[in-house]
Amino acid sequence: MPAIVSPNSFPHLFSPITIGGMEVRNRILSTGHDTVMAHDGQVTERLIAYHEARAKGGAGLIVVQVSGVHETARYTSHILMATSDEAIPGYARLAQAVHRHGTKLCGQLFHPGREIMETDDGTAPVAYAPSAVPNQRFRVMPVPLSLRMIGEIVSGYGDAAARMMKAGFDGCEIVASHGYLPAQFLNPNVNLRDDAYGGSVENRLRFLREVAADIRKKTQPTFVVGLRITGEEHDSQTLDASEVLAFCRLLDADGDIDYFNVVAGTSATLKGAVHIVPPMHFSGGYSAPFAAAMKAAVSKPVFVAGRINQPQLAEQVLASGQADMCGMTRAMICDPDMPAKAEAGRLDDIRACIACNQACIGHFHKGYPISCIQHPETGRELTLGIKTPAAVRKRIVVVGGGPAGMKAAAVLAGRGHDVELHEAESQLGGQTRLAQLLPGRAEFGGIITNLSREMEQAGVTVRRQSRVTRAMIDEMRVDAVVIATGGKPHWPHVEGYETSHVVDAWQVLRGQANVGTSVLIADWRSDWIGLGLAEKLAREGCRVKLCTEGIAAGEAIHGYVRNIMMATLHTLGVEVIPYARLFGSDGNTVYMEHTASGAPIIFDDIDTLVLAQGHDRVADLEAELDDFAGEVHVIGDANTPRTAEEAVLEGLKVGRAI
Ligand SMILES: Cc1cc2nc3c(=O)[nH]c(=O)nc-3n(C[C@H](O)[C@H](O)[C@H](O)COP(=O)(O)O)c2cc1C
Ligand code: SF4
Repeated sequence: MPAIVSPNSFPHLFSPITIGGMEVRNRILSTGHDTVMAHDGQVTERLIAYHEARAKGGAGLIVVQVSGVHETARYTSHILMATSDEAIPGYARLAQAVHRHGTKLCGQLFHPGREIMETDDGTAPVAYAPSAVPNQRFRVMPVPLSLRMIGEIVSGYGDAAARMMKAGFDGCEIVASHGYLPAQFLNPNVNLRDDAYGGSVENRLRFLREVAADIRKKTQPTFVVGLRITGEEHDSQTLDASEVLAFCRLLDADGDIDYFNVVAGTSATLKGAVHIVPPMHFSGGYSAPFAAAMKAAVSKPVFVAGRINQPQLAEQVLASGQADMCGMTRAMICDPDMPAKAEAGRLDDIRACIACNQACIGHFHKGYPISCIQHPETGRELTLGIKTPAAVRKRIVVVGGGPAGMKAAAVLAGRGHDVELHEAESQLGGQTRLAQLLPGRAEFGGIITNLSREMEQAGVTVRRQSRVTRAMIDEMRVDAVVIATGGKPHWPHVEGYETSHVVDAWQVLRGQANVGTSVLIADWRSDWIGLGLAEKLAREGCRVKLCTEGIAAGEAIHGYVRNIMMATLHTLGVEVIPYARLFGSDGNTVYMEHTASGAPIIFDDIDTLVLAQGHDRVADLEAELDDFAGEVHVIGDANTPRTAEEAVLEGLKVGRAI
């Protein structure tokens, strides 16, 4: 039975708040986040549909992704630009779509300084910053800003804000967070200037003060002006957190800023960037204590973001007085209707974000429109967002209860089909059940909880411990079969296995491998599995060598997740060997081949060789159904082994297709 929770359970979350001239209906905020849905610097219909879905779902305030305020602000090839009046019609359509649902809208005013990721033609960028201090992450050596350019950029902020106001936005937010240009001026490790913009606190704050004043000069008094600011950058070249509070006190006293929006991390370094979109390794709401310090320092409302993925947690942050609004960005990328469900007390129906970073920020950093592994409709509102009821009710059997099968079953039943899902094991989840056993990744199992609920709501009949055969299909008289039978560990043909102790990743995770003290992991996919196994075994006391076929361990996964896992492996003393392909084994010796030089790499004294060599598809039923008269669809790893993201997406697509 789903928990029945009264809407009064969230008295703080659903109380309105007035910020400057803007009244917001609740305390739920979608913070600014790049979507890779802009085109030629302009708002697109896809971007509007994306934000409208969140407005419709009940978000109180949406802050739209960064908009460049100057030509030198193009930090990616898909940034929005607010540098000309051409931006106004797109902004206006976006504002109308969001306002239609009672949600307020602010824009982000942005200059990255030295934090330039890419150019639109693949050449290395010319970046400008307070001083010629290099960036670690993108290897950018910036040009120090001239006074003339500083003046131009300051004026660009005000002009951009005026365009947003003209388009109907309720306000704007200066992005002084994450080590971007305003933060570079504030940081004495990055700002080495000896003119009026460097040195003393007053001088380092001058740029931000001029920006805020220029915006105020060019906008109406009711137009909200917020400040996004990092409290703790979590790095050695860091901006001191107590100094950040001092800066904010001064800005607060000036009276130009209506709210302070607190986050963690910096774009400049691998260690600091992890906190920009914190993975599941960090606890929910971990930046809230800094927000509380900010609240004690300033008179205006304080917002906070960072792993607040459930309304209960947001309510706690608000009730304890740590912040006035909660950023719940991935929470709404994963479930746009989260606010409405929370308000209606339908807590069990909320699809909680698991902070995997796979399809949201993971897509962004690959240059693709953002989505969610659990909710592939996100970012695809115009193509996959609307589900039409089935024209004819069909009897459908879904074989396999992993993410692909569960999503397909939920969507098919939701459209009115009669759906039975058969799972051979006693529990649903497929490989997700193993993935959640990797260290620090327990939350990944949330996919099973969420998809189980989607199936329950849609009315899917679930049969566990039921291995489906052709005879059963014939007996059930179904119209369509969806094969989602997953995969199994791939064992490549390698010489000498029989003389060595060889186990696979699944056996290790299930506790079925009697692993020795000295272990070598042969990692083909260069993803979470190799990294996670290495951590698990090192924590259990093994001496671990992680040989990865990629150019770096974790090469295939999102950088923030990889970097936090690599940091742990480094601390645990795991030896990581890239460019290494498994060649053979002989007793306690493992032979690898360097993938670039072709030279042998030989490891002696290995007790156990662990195979993390990907998966083979399991789809025997497909051949059995060769002459089946109805429809047959093969999805997920049974189609071809990949990740949970593709499994759920294919589940959705087949769910719409029948
Ligand atoms: C895909 C993606 C893109 C982001 N881009 C921006 C951005 O353009 N500006 C910004 O200030 N923060 C950006 N962020 C950070 C978010 O605003 C937010 O601080 C972060 O996701 C943590 O909040 P959450 O745990 O509620 O998701 C981005 C986050 C994601 C997931
Ligand atoms: S892809 Fe993962 S981190 Fe991103 S919104 Fe979905 S569940 Fe959350």
